[in-house]
Amino acid sequence: MARSRKTLFLLVAASSAVAVFSPISAEETSTENGVVDVEVISAAAEGEPDLAAGAEHFAKVCAQCHGARGEGNVELKTPSIANLPDWYVSAQIGKFQRHWRGTKPEDVQGIQMHAIAQSLDPVAVRDLAGYIRSLEIVPTQVTLDGGNAERGAELFRERCMECHRYNGRGESAFRSGQLIGLQDWYIVAQLTKFRDGIRGHKEDDLEGGKMHRVTEKMTEESFLDLAAHIADLAERYKDERPRRRR
Ligand code: HEC
Ligand code: HEC
Repeated sequence: MARSRKTLFLLVAASSAVAVFSPISAEETSTENGVVDVEVISAAAEGEPDLAAGAEHFAKVCAQCHGARGEGNVELKTPSIANLPDWYVSAQIGKFQRHWRGTKPEDVQGIQMHAIAQSLDPVAVRDLAGYIRSLEIVPTQVTLDGGNAERGAELFRERCMECHRYNGRGESAFRSGQLIGLQDWYIVAQLTKFRDGIRGHKEDDLEGGKMHRVTEKMTEESFLDLAAHIADLAERYKDERPRRRR
């Protein structure tokens, strides 16, 4: 397994009262076996998170859109981020900061989060990610009509499981996030964005690019089937502890 160094370069610019942190694009780093690997994207500072600081920041800034328990909000179209892996949250905030996610004009929700991400410094991201990880998962529920969980299960086994694992918990080695806490409508929305090149369209965004290729030829109907199956997985595996590897 190729290991990648976590490095983060910062250009600090002052914009009115808010400091803007803008990391430079992905750096290639060579690993001991000579394989060139692209660095793991992370917007977080090294070290143990300060969960109390994360909680305070969350309540002040994030809760208004993501809910007090990180449960998300269908009206605001914000995802349930409670219990997402810390490395995934740090990576996504890094992608918003690098303008890889949330910059296409049709990506109304991504644009909102893109703006918020620019105000987060690495220590804040580390503390927030640690706090979000500590929140209790809100398992995926079926709210959309038309999904066929059985067909979804078959598709999931064929096309998703290798990266997101049998239980939809994701896998840090593949940088694939946890699916079973996301709302069904958010899952469908993200699959659509990946397919249509609204998310995962930047060349450097290797993980997003993978999801683009996976979804490229898929239909809305299969997205509904998959979301229905992920809700089943959530019911089955919500209490299973994720493997922790960083
Ligand atoms: C103005 C509303 C708003 C605020 C405030 C906000 N977010 Fe978001 N956030 C969103 C929306 C909308 C999305 C969904 C973007 C999309 O659909 O691609 C999102 C997405 C995210 C994601 C990506 C989730 C995933 O599954 O990929 C993370 C992580 C996140 N927000 C963390 C935070 C944190 C941490 C804070 C507080 C510092 C915060 N957000 C504050 C609106 C907001
Ligand atoms: C080759 C590995 C791979 C396969 C196969 C794969 N994924 Fe992913 N998936 C990823 C990675 C990596 C990400 C993180 C993308 C990013 O960083 O933006 C991701 C992200 C996602 C997200 C967004 C999660 C969020 O919190 O916003 C959803 C939803 C998703 N995948 C569903 C699926 C489904 C459904 C399938 C099967 C049809 C699938 N994936 C197949 C690797 C994969």
